[in-house]
Amino acid sequence: MSMLRRPRRNRKSTAVRDLVRETTLSTEDFIFPLFLVSGQNQKVEVESMPGIYRFSADLMLKEVEECLKLGIRAFDVFPAYPEELKDSMATESYNPDTFYLKALRSIKENFPEICLMSDVAMDPYSSDGHDGIVKDGKILNDETLEVLARMSLAQADAGVDILGPSDMMDGRVGFIREELDNAGFTDTSIMSYTAKYASSFYGPFRDALDSAPKFGDKKTYQMDPSNSREALIEADLDMEEGADFLMVKPALAYLDIIQLLNQNFDLPIAAYNVSGEYSMIKASAERGWIDGEKAMIESLLSIKRAGAKIILTYFAKEFALMKG
Ligand code: PBG
Repeated sequence: MSMLRRPRRNRKSTAVRDLVRETTLSTEDFIFPLFLVSGQNQKVEVESMPGIYRFSADLMLKEVEECLKLGIRAFDVFPAYPEELKDSMATESYNPDTFYLKALRSIKENFPEICLMSDVAMDPYSSDGHDGIVKDGKILNDETLEVLARMSLAQADAGVDILGPSDMMDGRVGFIREELDNAGFTDTSIMSYTAKYASSFYGPFRDALDSAPKFGDKKTYQMDPSNSREALIEADLDMEEGADFLMVKPALAYLDIIQLLNQNFDLPIAAYNVSGEYSMIKASAERGWIDGEKAMIESLLSIKRAGAKIILTYFAKEFALMKG
């Protein structure tokens, strides 16, 4: 049999496969999301996310320290607020004494070398469980900006490196950029949730934070999973408004969107490998239906291969432990 081209030659041994490998993963690619609760000495596993915990600030410091030793240097902290601290205007989000802001400040003071990210949206603090102010069953766009600006300034003041406006409503990046600059926070970055889809894959995250919407869904602000061209409009706006990074979320069901933005924009592209994507792998691995570690690596590789420079993933620590 004469065949000039035999692609198998480039797969014949580990050494050759390693030479021709196009995509590699490193702990430096990851931002590790962490869930914060109030109180002390708390470390409670999220039921729908095996291996992921809600930490009180004291134990979160230990977790960050442990991760740093493993080579993870970027963290995104999400607070879980008790119902009694929530209200319709999310006022707790910018209360200077609130446990979230205090924890951010202490993490950054203890570990100034890390990259600390936070989420800018009303849902964890909202008695309606929505990302914006609710009036007569509608989610208000412009009126919510003032709350987001206060939240952003409070988080920047606490020492956050990257703010993540995540409500997928209009005009966020520009408004927050201007407020930050006016207050002297010119070095605080913005990672826009550029193409965030109204997805069923956020279920376990909403369990972790008790932040599910109390009525309706998020379809008037998050994108329709059917659409890709609309992501280009969102990305254009985020570019113009001054975003430093563009994010696609979820990641695995939206690899085409990651690729599309990577091909059309010069900003670094981030992808959020969300809670449901994590839990699906964990659940089937627990049943012995798939090899969890291999499925983790394959998923992370696919996200990077699609064009994401940065991956927000609950697998960050597990990946680092495996390498170490
Ligand atoms: C809320 C927010 C969500 C996530 C990150 N920020 C949930 C939502 O939009 O309902 C989801 C993350 C995940 O599922 O891992 N602003």
